[in-house]
Amino acid sequence: MISIKSSREIGLMRETATLARNTLVYIESFIKPGISTEELNQICHDYILEHGAYPSPLNYNGFPKSVCTSLNEVICHGIPSKSDIVKDGDILNIDVTTYLNKFHGDTNKTFLVGNVSDEIQKLVDVTYQCMRAGINTVKPGSHIGDIGAIIQEIAHDHGYSVVEEYCGHGIGREFHEEPQVVHVGKKGTGAECKPGMTFTIEPMINLGSRHCKLLRDGWTVITKDKKPSAQFEHTILVTEEGHEILTLRPDEQVDFKI
Ligand code: MF3
Ligand code: CO
Ligand code: CO
Repeated sequence: MISIKSSREIGLMRETATLARNTLVYIESFIKPGISTEELNQICHDYILEHGAYPSPLNYNGFPKSVCTSLNEVICHGIPSKSDIVKDGDILNIDVTTYLNKFHGDTNKTFLVGNVSDEIQKLVDVTYQCMRAGINTVKPGSHIGDIGAIIQEIAHDHGYSVVEEYCGHGIGREFHEEPQVVHVGKKGTGAECKPGMTFTIEPMINLGSRHCKLLRDGWTVITKDKKPSAQFEHTILVTEEGHEILTLRPDEQVDFKI
């Protein structure tokens, strides 16, 4: 069952989503060569607690840290560590989920560290375009499958692949709710969007093949070919008019068209 949020619940969702978004804005200036992903985790953790919220990943199914930090060939769910030091030319995704007002807000961004090669910068740009194009399909009467269809089309046009094992998800009182938002698919398939639904769109796009491998820590997912992978994520609300991006940052265009 896909939950429909009331206007009161939407107000509470808006606050948690804004805090998750603000955490991503806050962490940006700390991402420099030489900092460890553990230090970045601690800064996000403190910021979230100072704002009266809880970092949803911490202890979620045993996840040991407060944010996910996924470097280069890490697709998602990277565990912050003292021994992972960010260096020039890296790409680093930080995935923030906050629990405030009994609701979750979930957003992530792939940051460029120093001078990133043109090839990898283009992967990051196209991944962002994939996410925004997926978001742009959302309105009452559209289908969840429309999101994956356009993401897949754009990624494949550039010769990239789309990860299929991990998806977007409904979000609200639970971190992961129905529906599953797969980032590949066919237009017109899947659940129909209705006002009051809230879900994430979070495509993971690989430079090489789509195949992944789970490391022995039980969390970290990497590309099988060790080529880089990028991701962006927003929490979306279906509105009567179309949609609203609840985690949109000030540095992003409100109306992004590709
Ligand atoms: N924030 C991730 C998502 O977008 C989920 C992380 S689960 C964790 O769905 F346990 F790894 F934190
Ligand atoms: Co998510
Ligand atoms: Co997330």
